[in-house]
Amino acid sequence: MKFENKNILITGGSSGIGKALISELFNNGARTIAVIGRDRSKMEPLKTKYPEINFLFLKADVAKLNEIKDVMQLIGKVWDRVDILINNAGVVSAGALEDISDEDIIAQQNINTTGLILLTKHVLPLLKKSEDAAIINISSGLGLIGMPFYATYAATKAAVKQFSEAIRRELKDYPIHVMTVYPTATDTPMMESAASKNMDTPELVAQKTIEGLKNKEIDIILGGEQRIQDNKDNFNDPLKFDEKVNSMYDTMKSRAKNHRSM
Ligand SMILES: NC(=O)c1ccc[n+]([C@@H]2O[C@H](COP(=O)([O-])OP(=O)(O)OC[C@H]3O[C@@H](n4cnc5c(N)ncnc54)[C@H](OP(=O)(O)O)[C@@H]3O)[C@@H](O)[C@H]2O)c1
Repeated sequence: MKFENKNILITGGSSGIGKALISELFNNGARTIAVIGRDRSKMEPLKTKYPEINFLFLKADVAKLNEIKDVMQLIGKVWDRVDILINNAGVVSAGALEDISDEDIIAQQNINTTGLILLTKHVLPLLKKSEDAAIINISSGLGLIGMPFYATYAATKAAVKQFSEAIRRELKDYPIHVMTVYPTATDTPMMESAASKNMDTPELVAQKTIEGLKNKEIDIILGGEQRIQDNKDNFNDPLKFDEKVNSMYDTMKSRAKNHRSM
């Protein structure tokens, strides 16, 4: 895939993995990028950093259908097609399920899953006009293996995995590649309250994502060979895998206690 003439739409491009993805796309020749986020002031610095990129900054909350529709109307006036949609925006609120507010549970679902699905639906007519398109959905390692104290977040990210697989099969007659990315703990603002150690860099996630897109891979799993083995072990013998998770229980509990990025 070549990026020079691609119209790229990314949610959450103002921070963390999204920001690193913009840098990696730029290095690969991308020059036309629309960014969706709730806070426009967080996007503005991108203009100074990449004066060569023709940016469209779109203030919208992906959890709000009317804002998705407004944004798509605007994009439709400027672009005749979307070539790459990157569903990256996401939030977390972790801890014991009874301790997470009802509002945080609903918002995680609305932003991480429902918003992603609705935006994809509303972008699809423009993606179908592209001759070489892609949808990249950012899930999480927790979407593959459910971990304690992340029950809600894990559910939203597992839903992204299933959505990706289903929509990839649904779109078989269109030149739209669908790829899902499963980052492990990554050093971004989302993780500031997580007390996590040995995290990946957002640059690594971005580099693996764009490399995977060029190779038309369907799943990008971060975390190395051990993570791939863990996924197999959890699938083959979940009760045995419980023992491994149990050995991390107290650490996970204290790390997740104040982990919130909403
Ligand atoms: N960091 C990790 O360890 C990790 C691990 C696995 C998966 N992930 C996933 O990777 C993706 C990026 O995470 P990150 O770590 O880069 O997080 P981050 O640094 O907190 O950035 C999140 C981005 O999403 C935007 N956003 C949040 N809610 C939004 C909403 N309702 N509507 C529109 N934009 C919204 C934010 O901008 P505004 O606040 O201005 O809206 C921000 O640009 C997320 O889907 C996350 O779940 C992260």
